[in-house]
Amino acid sequence: MQKELESKYEVLRDLEGPVRDLIAHHESKRELWFPSEFLPADQGTQNEKELAELRKRAEGVSDNARVALTLNILTEEGLPHFHRLIAHNLGNGAQWKEWNGLWTAEEDRHGNILRDYIRDSRLLNFSALEKLQFDYIRSGFHPGWSGDPYKIFVYTSCQEKATSMSHLNTGKLVAEQEPLLFAISQKIAQDESRHYAFYLNVFREIIARDPNVALECAAGVMPSIDMPGISMANFNEYADVVRRSGIYGPRDYQKIVEQLIGSWNIGVLTQLNEIGRKAQEKIMSIPARLQKVADFIESRVSAKNFTFDVIFGRVLEMA
Ligand SMILES: [Fe+2]
Ligand SMILES: [Fe+2]
Repeated sequence: MQKELESKYEVLRDLEGPVRDLIAHHESKRELWFPSEFLPADQGTQNEKELAELRKRAEGVSDNARVALTLNILTEEGLPHFHRLIAHNLGNGAQWKEWNGLWTAEEDRHGNILRDYIRDSRLLNFSALEKLQFDYIRSGFHPGWSGDPYKIFVYTSCQEKATSMSHLNTGKLVAEQEPLLFAISQKIAQDESRHYAFYLNVFREIIARDPNVALECAAGVMPSIDMPGISMANFNEYADVVRRSGIYGPRDYQKIVEQLIGSWNIGVLTQLNEIGRKAQEKIMSIPARLQKVADFIESRVSAKNFTFDVIFGRVLEMA
């Protein structure tokens, strides 16, 4: 095990040049933004009238969108655990420290702006949200990756894309009633898409250097990923509402896997050894299996009522 990890770290060291280029590319593509550009917070910049208008508009946000937003902010607030996993799994290379610092600073604004928005707009039962956040951060996120650096890149590729979809589609759901929340959600989704591109490209470089082991790791992670919020109370109910709202569900995950298979050219890789070929075969069979899972879930679905503390205990009826 230790020997395997050592050889992976060697590949990671060999990536210093490409990773520096990818970081430079990432920074050249994104404009730096701050939450207070959306929600003024400096002395004298937010007036009572604007605040009252914001709260009025927020009243029009549907309860299923509020539930989705709760899952979105909780996912963002799990950041300390993700920072730790990246720092721990990627080791001490200067380029990884640089990326983890930059990525964490970018991610930190996501939780901040959603929290600022929810607080200013009075969209959720804030004390229920705070309790949820405390319990969630305390329980953390502990995937069984055994310190494997390759798995981080497979997971983050899947997860950044899933998060991007979740913000994007939550935003679409509220666009008409609350254009400000729509704009915030789209802004976050754009960040997530750029993170997705970074992780995807790093893993492409890993496949080029160490295809058999890379595919073996991908075959272990891609069949199903745990979302970051998995340890939060009532996670399954939140995820169910999000799926029923057309924001994110198994069919979306299937699309992500298909997209990654295409981007990494997994189906056409040749010159693999026995382990690599087996992993390739396994990965190529994942989309069909995910489709079956999605069909099965949809065939069993029936109308259901939900209640959550964050939406003030109201009953949410979902088809
Ligand atoms: Fe984020
Ligand atoms: Fe991200």
